[in-house]
Amino acid sequence: MIKTIIEPFRIKMVEPITMHSEEERVAFLKKARYNPFQLSSDEVIIDLLTDSGTSAMSARQWAGMMEGDESYAGSQSWLKMERAIRDLTGMEFILPTHQGRAAERIIYTLLGGKGKTFISNTHFDTTRANIEFSGAEAIDIPIEEGKQPQTLHPFKGNMDVALLEELIINKGAENIGAVILTVTNNSGGGQPVSMTNARNVSQICRKHGVRFLLDMCRIAENAYFIQLREEEFRDVSCYNIAREMLSLADGAVMSSKKDALVNMGGFLSLRDQALADECKNLLIITEGFTTYGGLSGRDMEAIAIGLKEVFQPDYLHYRIRSTQYLGEKLTELGVPIMQPTGGHAVYVDARNFYNHIPVDEYPGQALVCDLYITGGIRAVEVGSVMFGKYAGDGSFIPAPMDLVRLAIPRRVYTQSHMEYVAEVFSILVKNKHKSTGFKITKEPEFLRHFTAEFEPVGLVSGMN
Ligand SMILES: Cc1ncc(COP(=O)(O)O)c(C=O)c1O
Repeated sequence: MIKTIIEPFRIKMVEPITMHSEEERVAFLKKARYNPFQLSSDEVIIDLLTDSGTSAMSARQWAGMMEGDESYAGSQSWLKMERAIRDLTGMEFILPTHQGRAAERIIYTLLGGKGKTFISNTHFDTTRANIEFSGAEAIDIPIEEGKQPQTLHPFKGNMDVALLEELIINKGAENIGAVILTVTNNSGGGQPVSMTNARNVSQICRKHGVRFLLDMCRIAENAYFIQLREEEFRDVSCYNIAREMLSLADGAVMSSKKDALVNMGGFLSLRDQALADECKNLLIITEGFTTYGGLSGRDMEAIAIGLKEVFQPDYLHYRIRSTQYLGEKLTELGVPIMQPTGGHAVYVDARNFYNHIPVDEYPGQALVCDLYITGGIRAVEVGSVMFGKYAGDGSFIPAPMDLVRLAIPRRVYTQSHMEYVAEVFSILVKNKHKSTGFKITKEPEFLRHFTAEFEPVGLVSGMN
C-alpha cells in the first residue's frame, strides 16, 4: 500500500512567490519594526499567518463565480447558498453576513447584555469581544487536558460538562445568553470536540432550557477527527457527522473563510423564527438585505460549492494529514509543539523552545522574527505579545503560554513547502542559543499585536 499522501488536486493557476535573500529580509523586518503583521505579502515566502480567508478556490468555485447573480433581492446565488446551508445545518432560518464576526455581532448583541453569561469550550477572540461589548461575560471551560500542551487526548477541544452544569445552576439558567461549542477549538490549538461531548453539552442545555450554539468555522475538519477517533462514526461520512452535530444545536455561526473554502463570507443559522426575525432587523441595518448580507452574488456561489467540496474524503484526509506531517517533522527535530496537532495549525511552544529568553522579552516574538529572517516564513505569536497585560503598578503580567501558530491555508501549499518549513526549523534548532529577545517600543491600547513596534534586545539572530 502506498503511504505517501499527495495533494488531491492538480495546479491549474499559479501565483508566484517572490524570493528574497536573508539580507533583504533583515532589512524588511527592521522596516516593519520587527512585527511581521507590518510586512508586505510580497516580502513573505510561506505565509502561515492565518488559515482564514486564505484558501485556494477550486475550478468549480471559480466557474460558479461567473454565474454569480448580483440581484439586490432574491438572487439565485443566495438561494443556492441558503439551500447548501439548510441541507448541512438542518436549520430553517439562514442569514448571510460578510464574515463570521458580523454574524457574531448580530446574535450576541441580541442574546447578550449586562447580567448575561456565555459559556464556551473557548471563546474565539472576536466571539469574546462581541459578547463583552454587549456588556455580558464570557467564561471558558475547556477540559483540563485542553490546557496542557504536552498531554495527549483525542478530543482536547471538549468542554468540561460537569463545570457547565455547575455554572448554569450557579448563574441561573435565565441568565445564560448561550452555551457555545467552538469546533474545532481554534484558541485551544485547533483541537477537536467529540460527538459524545457535543451530545452531553446539548443534553445539559435542554435540561436547563439554555440555548446551545455551534461556532462551526471548522466543522468539516472536526468531523474528520470524529470519524477517525470515535468508534461509532468510523463508517459515517464526514458530511453526516457534521449534520448530526448540528442537529444537537439551536443555532450556528460560521466564518465561511475557513471550511467553506472561500476568501470572504459568513452566516448565521437558526431554528427559532422569532429570534431570526430580530436578527434580520440588525442584519439589514448593518450588513445589507437578507438575500445578500454584505456578500456579492459571486461570493455566495463560491460558498455554496465550497461547503460541499470541503467534505470530500480525499481533501479532508490530505488536509489533516498534512498538518500532522508538519507536526511530526518538528517533533522529530526536538521542537516542542502542542500535542497532538490540531486541524488547521501547528502551535510551537516558544517559551520552552527558547527557554534562554526571559518571558518579558517575548520568546514567541523572537521565534516569529527568526522564522521570517531565516526562511521568509510568516507566523503569528500567540502569547505575551497578544495577551500580556500590565498590572496597576506597571509590572508585566505574561500570558499563560508563549506559543507561535503556524496556520496552514487550505489547498495552497504543497508537501515541498512543508519540507521547507521543517528545514528552516532545523536551522533554528542549531542556532537557537544565538536568538535574542525583544522589547516593545510602541504599542496601542487594544489588540497590540497587530501594530506594536519592537526592538531586539541584542543582535538579531538568523544572520548566520
Ligand atoms: C473559531 C472562530 N470563530 C469566529 C471567527 C471570526 O471569523 P471572521 O474572521 O470571519 O470574522 C474566527 C476567525 O478566525 C474563528 O476562528
